[in-house]
Amino acid sequence: MKNYFILFCLLCTGSFIHAQTATYKEKYRPQFHFSPAINWTNDPNGLVYYNGEYHIFYQHNPFENKWGHMTWGHAISTDLVHWHHLPLAIKEENGIMIFSGTCIVDKNNTIGFGKNGAIPMVAIYTGHTNTNQSQHLAYSFDKGRTWKKYAQNPILDLHKKDFRDPKVFWYAPKQYWVMAVVLPLDHKVQFYKSSNLLQWALLSEFGPAGDISGIWECPDLFQVPVAGNASIKKWVLTNSISTAMQYFVGEFDGISFHNESPAGGVFRPDYGPDFYAGITYNQLPASQKPVMIAWANNWGYANDIPTTPWKSAMTLPREMTVRKDADKWILLNKPAEGIEKLKGELLADESVLVSDKKTYDTTGTQLEIEADMQPSTGSSGVQLAVGNGHYAEVGYDLAAQKLYIDRSHTANQSFNKNFEAPGRFEIPFVLKDNHLVLHIYFDNSLIEVFANNGEAAMTMQVFPADNDNSVALFSTSGAATFNSIKIWKMKSTWE
Ligand code: FRU
Repeated sequence: MKNYFILFCLLCTGSFIHAQTATYKEKYRPQFHFSPAINWTNDPNGLVYYNGEYHIFYQHNPFENKWGHMTWGHAISTDLVHWHHLPLAIKEENGIMIFSGTCIVDKNNTIGFGKNGAIPMVAIYTGHTNTNQSQHLAYSFDKGRTWKKYAQNPILDLHKKDFRDPKVFWYAPKQYWVMAVVLPLDHKVQFYKSSNLLQWALLSEFGPAGDISGIWECPDLFQVPVAGNASIKKWVLTNSISTAMQYFVGEFDGISFHNESPAGGVFRPDYGPDFYAGITYNQLPASQKPVMIAWANNWGYANDIPTTPWKSAMTLPREMTVRKDADKWILLNKPAEGIEKLKGELLADESVLVSDKKTYDTTGTQLEIEADMQPSTGSSGVQLAVGNGHYAEVGYDLAAQKLYIDRSHTANQSFNKNFEAPGRFEIPFVLKDNHLVLHIYFDNSLIEVFANNGEAAMTMQVFPADNDNSVALFSTSGAATFNSIKIWKMKSTWE
């Protein structure tokens, strides 16, 4: 009887339901990206490192496989690659949804809640109702396993309907906490300061600037080392704009952000359709470069993607550096180091000249591909999920000097017209000595491309048919030289 009762309780808590109904072998399920066991997720939240654990909290609907009842889901990892699910962290309550936010470890107990040396972990998130968004606080004394909402929430309220997505970090030179938070409709990031995480004073505002074609969400401000000279760091401000992200590179003096990216330009950490709401880890070990994780989906069609019993995954964790090219700073991003150890069987390793098409029967859609190439005079590159007339394309158009990613010939697009068109995403990308290195991670329904050491990244979802599982090199005219093409199977982190 007792056992049945425990079984009943487990069923009620949901954790058992996870274990029972999610196999991580489902069609389209990413095998080396984070996704919740069941039900919906959007933004990553509260990324923080503490005592050997990388935490990921995430926007989650615990009840259904679509957006709603926003609650913070929670998982941890010791290597940013293998994830272990934990019970729900901060739950919707009294009609207040738990929207996106941040997490920090208050090592000096500036908040004062820690008794007898206990160190509080503090989450600051947007409390959302239909008429108000304000910033709320919750805290934990057991490494984020259980949370208590602050009794006097909200901690910051402008009495506005749209005011959200706080990101908080410790600004050491002035010994205070800084919060970046957005006024979405005004295309503004506001910066606040606090000495105790509870009272906040406005420092400055940034924006409108760059891309203002949609509402602004999920700001972040972090320091990034200059590539090749890690002792120099620049400040990078990022935000999301309805369906894409942008960044500005400059300086932060503890009060204002001073943009050094060319005015009028729009610069994106990722130029694909499925990279949104990215934020970086707080309090990483000093030796580690900043790491960003984003939501690999797009509000234009996210609720309709054909996956069950979960919906949406996170991108690979990405390490960031910056480099100055002429007058502009480029945010370079590449997969965090741990991904390397997921390389499995090497399926192809050769140099080859391709005038039309060369197919590799990889019989899989869980691959890492590295193509070091001299593009042809036409368009050339790598096709994925090839089969039965279907393929996704990662290519370079030499005449137009454009890098592109294209899903218009993949299967299963009709679930939403915003997914069907546009099917091609391209950016100006000038090559030196006609040399292109494409580093591609393909994880069943997710493609992440890093070109020339992360000078441009592109993330795109695809939903291939069952036998669309070959890889091909292609060239539309002239010959493309693949100095080296390497294809590996990738291991699963969920087994
Ligand atoms: C971004 C966003 C945030 C908000 C959250 C709600 O994707 O719209 O602005 O906090 O999602 O789920």
